[in-house]
Amino acid sequence: MIDPQSSASPASSRPASAAASGDAATPSDRSMTRRRALGALGLGTGAVCGLAACGPEDEGFGNADPVRATDDAIALSELPENATTLVNFGGERPFVAIVRGTGEDITAFSGYCTHQGCAVAMAGEELECPCHGSTFDAKTGEVLSAPAASPLPPVAVEVDGDVLRRVR
Ligand code: FES
Repeated sequence: MIDPQSSASPASSRPASAAASGDAATPSDRSMTRRRALGALGLGTGAVCGLAACGPEDEGFGNADPVRATDDAIALSELPENATTLVNFGGERPFVAIVRGTGEDITAFSGYCTHQGCAVAMAGEELECPCHGSTFDAKTGEVLSAPAASPLPPVAVEVDGDVLRRVR
């Protein structure tokens, strides 16, 4: 388990995030050796979704415990459906909020506050900044309360077989 707040200093923590996908792929999707989930950047095609285009279902959506990834990749099995998971991908600004609906309905955005860069933490259906109290919607990254004025920026990730990779 990871405590995102342990690296919440604006000076020492910088954002990073990713998203994953599931296994509800169509036969043609499964034939692909590598799928890119760039939906968070609005670049996705096919089964890939953008934040606003096809987010997770509202029913039963929740937050999962933070997890740590290795080598910029995390098993899809560690990313529960209908939940947002904060993933630590290591390196600079490692925290990425991965929003998974069902199957490959996955988007990702930075786990760092847009006010002054503190790492956010899960707080119910919100992501909360411990530094000055900004809150963000855990499904969309939109600002719910100031002082942050901008949404959490999207992060590029890709699905590669059974894992989700952060694209750097
Ligand atoms: S750094 Fe998040 S509210 Fe200031």
